[in-house]
Amino acid sequence: MGRDIRLRGEVSAAYQMGEISLKKIKRYKKITVIIGGILAGSTVICGCGGREDAKKSIKIGISVYDQYDTFVSEMMKDFNDYATKKEEETGISINIDTYNAAASQSTQNSQVENMVTEGCDVLCVNLVDRTDPTAIIDLAEKNDIPVIFFNRELVEEDLERWSRLYYVGAQAFESGIIQGELAAAAFLTDDSFDKNGDGIFQYVVLEGEAGHQDAIVRTEYSVSTMIDSGVEVEKLGYAIANRAQAQTKMAQLMSQFGDSIELVIANNDDMALGAIDALKASDFTKDEWPAVIGIDGTDVGLEAVKNKEMIGTVYNDKEGQASAMLNLAYGLSTGGDLSDLDLIDGKYIRLPYARVTYDDVDLYMEGDTE
Ligand code: GAL
Repeated sequence: MGRDIRLRGEVSAAYQMGEISLKKIKRYKKITVIIGGILAGSTVICGCGGREDAKKSIKIGISVYDQYDTFVSEMMKDFNDYATKKEEETGISINIDTYNAAASQSTQNSQVENMVTEGCDVLCVNLVDRTDPTAIIDLAEKNDIPVIFFNRELVEEDLERWSRLYYVGAQAFESGIIQGELAAAAFLTDDSFDKNGDGIFQYVVLEGEAGHQDAIVRTEYSVSTMIDSGVEVEKLGYAIANRAQAQTKMAQLMSQFGDSIELVIANNDDMALGAIDALKASDFTKDEWPAVIGIDGTDVGLEAVKNKEMIGTVYNDKEGQASAMLNLAYGLSTGGDLSDLDLIDGKYIRLPYARVTYDDVDLYMEGDTE
């Protein structure tokens, strides 16, 4: 009994098919080991945690849109760490079934059906398609199991459809504003970022998944904030990418615009790191690099700030979100009091973003639950 991880079969099948790298398998193993540790340390008082024995053992079902998304996988690791702490504090066994939807909404819908059959007390869903939560909401309502949607925000009308639906995440526009402020501050305080000395910040954008509200909103607010801060900007080009594609897309942008690129604004650290890979592979010396700014403050992103490869990033509080989601899931599963949880409109928990530069990166690296 205890933590039951459903990813194993899917991961090895994908690995055999060459869809994922050895590195990812290693990361998966790390998670398994951690979970093994949690299991060993916890006292499982009763079975799988059906709702009738929720006081001694609870069961949380999680489906993530893509287990190998850096931010999401780091958040899941934090979630497991907080669950261990909660078990130690309360003596209640917390069983977590984690499923990887592998970017398919219909797979995710089936996983949610499975979680219901398995007797989960609460469902945590990182939607694949934020516009398509209907099947999940209907099923949850029919079985009276609360759902916490997280990280990929559904539209308000959907969240309003039933009283036991919640959302944990952040306000995407905030991250765009902070990214724009970081870029403006760099340009206004250090002439070297204006490589051609024309008083205009020439930039390219690396945009995330088309249709993901974080991507659209981040770009919009980042650029408008630079302009509002008094920086004249010129967009040279953009590319839609993920971590794997970002290096190639950045190399293409560099071959098109050469050293005219003074700034790279990336919708997340993964893409910023892809851009850095392209810069490292180019003929530019580090002094000639454009300013690169990401969003997320992933472990690797923070390291790039520390190494002065990125001039900054915007911290997407994965620890805060993981902790809030765990506390909410725990409260909902045990029928506990939710009043300490600062629920906005009884439904939302939003954690603020924060600005990270070389000067304060150590704080975030230390604060990391790694
Ligand atoms: C965002 C995050 C991205 C990516 C995305 C997945 O909040 O900044 O890096 O993880 O969520 O939905």
